[in-house]
Formats: sequence, C-alpha cells, structure tokens
Amino acid sequence: MDKELKLLFSRKEIAETVARLAREISVDYADKKLVVVGVLKGAFVFLADLVRHLTIPVAIEFVRIASYGSKKESSGEILVKKDVEITLEGKDVLIVEDIVDTGLSLTFLIEHLRAHHPSSLKVCALVDKKTRREVEIKVDYTGFAMADGFIVGYGIDFNEQYRALPEIFVVD
Ligand code: IMP
Ligand code: MG
Repeated sequence: MDKELKLLFSRKEIAETVARLAREISVDYADKKLVVVGVLKGAFVFLADLVRHLTIPVAIEFVRIASYGSKKESSGEILVKKDVEITLEGKDVLIVEDIVDTGLSLTFLIEHLRAHHPSSLKVCALVDKKTRREVEIKVDYTGFAMADGFIVGYGIDFNEQYRALPEIFVVD
C-alpha cells in the first residue's frame, strides 16, 4: 500500500544544507582527527553526501542500534546491533544521524561511544524534531528543524520503504 507523500525538503534545499554543514564541520575539524560515525540505516545517504563535501581528512565508521518495543518506552531497551570497528580513543568523533526525535537513541549511543574515551564527541543530525524531545540532548550541527510529522526519503524509511527517494517527504 502506498502512502500519500508531500514534499518537505527539495533536492536543492537538501544539497545546500548538506554543503553548509560540511563547510562548518571542515572549519571546526581542521587539524583534528575526525571520525564520522554514521547511524545505520537512516543516515547512509546523508553521510555519503556530507563526507564528499568535506575538505579535510575523515575516517568513516558505522553503527546500528535497535530499540525494542515502542520508541516511547525507556532507553534501556536500546542495544548495539553493529558496533564501530576501530578504537575511537583520542579521536574527534562526530555522530551522523538522520533524525533526532525523542533523543533516546542518541543518548544511548553517546554513552556507548563515550566509553571509548574519544577526544571529543559531537552530533550532526540532518533533521531535528526539537518539540518531540524527551531527554535533553545537544545537537551540534543541525540541517533542518521541523515540528511533529513522520518523514521519509533521502535514506529515511517507513517500514523499509522510501529510502531511495532523493527528496524528503512527509507521510500523510
Ligand atoms: P529517537 O530515539 O526518538 O530520537 O529516535 C530517532 C530515530 O527514530 C531516528 O534515527 C529514526 O531512525 C527514527 N525516526 C524518528 N522520526 C522518524 C521519522 O519521521 N521518519 C522515519 N524515522 C524516524
Ligand atoms: Mg535512525
């Protein structure tokens, strides 16, 4: 069953936003040991575009986390399904996430990566749903802010559908 999709962010808006984020990151991480940690699967398209705009060296890692039960339940039900494959000790780690919603997954992931003792640990999110936050979280680099609403496209799915769409849509 196909859902009705309404365009939210166009290719042009996304491209400009990703380029802007990459410029900021390239300036801030000049002379640092940047490792981006992409959160699978949703961030894969964003990460691919973002790193190609960076003008500094970067290492790329991925993690996959899963939450059991409803998202609204406690963060204790989140676990790491695929971990980073290098040590992050002494590195400048930037988590690259598609969406920050309640903040529970990211809170869990930050704690998980902190155990590596990175030199620094920051967050870059393509979309921030600020009003949905259940736990306080600092997003250091934000692409777009939006209110409530379920989005798909540009790597982001609804039941594994729509990830390959080049633009971002709201699902009705
Ligand atoms: P949080 O723990 O509630 O912040 O969950 C964030 C994660 O939920 C994101 O990384 C997405 O995987 C998923 N998510 C949140 N909102 C949406 C949405 O609008 N579309 C698709 N996935 C979403
Ligand atoms: Mg995600």
